[in-house]
Amino acid sequence: MSTYSTSIIDNTARHVQNLLTGEGSGHDWWHIRRVWRTAKALAEEEQADMFVVELAALLHDIGDHKFHNGDETMGAKLSRAWMEQQQVPESKIVRVCQVIDEVSFKGAGTSSAVSSLEAQVVQDADRLDAIGAIGIARAFAYGGHKGREMHNPAVAPVLHTSFEEYKKNSGPTLNHFYEKLFLLKDRMHTASARRLAAKRHDFMDEFVTRFLAEWDGER
Ligand code: ADP
Ligand code: NI
Repeated sequence: MSTYSTSIIDNTARHVQNLLTGEGSGHDWWHIRRVWRTAKALAEEEQADMFVVELAALLHDIGDHKFHNGDETMGAKLSRAWMEQQQVPESKIVRVCQVIDEVSFKGAGTSSAVSSLEAQVVQDADRLDAIGAIGIARAFAYGGHKGREMHNPAVAPVLHTSFEEYKKNSGPTLNHFYEKLFLLKDRMHTASARRLAAKRHDFMDEFVTRFLAEWDGER
């Protein structure tokens, strides 16, 4: 990448760090940093456009629908304004905004189809951060932020078939494992992400098994 591109990436990392530091629901700067690093590794392996992948990974959560009253167009809008200010070429801005629009999880019964290799890479990286040890921690952090119960055996998980329904959901955090987290390993696009996802999935599986055993007073 040119020094010019490198300085845009550096500026963007600083900008996002300023925006998201201290965010308490699992979308903090450290999430972005992990996704950025994972996305770079996947992009290299998959030979995706590194500049588009890095910008999209860095900007993918700045306008998350969960923090803008459900408006899911905010991400691309805020990202476009920032990239225009950084004089990113219009052809790249269009591609980055498309990736940002496509990465978010919309419910168990909805499609994960994306339209570019760069979107596949960023979506895989984002989803890898939702599973495994970090994924478990993020789910309970998010649930705590929203005042949710950790678990309630009387409330069954729901496999949402629309994004609207998924967004309205307010069930206990353990249900989120069945509604999203356990589904992710089979929805990875790239081979390298599938390999990482398998390990993280097995760890979560073991965690939930032990959680339920302890819940019922394991002896
Ligand atoms: P991202 O935008 O990073 O793909 P989300 O915005 O969907 O992910 O969620 C951010 C984090 O909060 C993820 O780790 C996700 O699993 C978790 N999360 C989202 N919704 C819930 C929920 N209803 N219960 C528990 N955790 C959730
Ligand atoms: Ni994310």
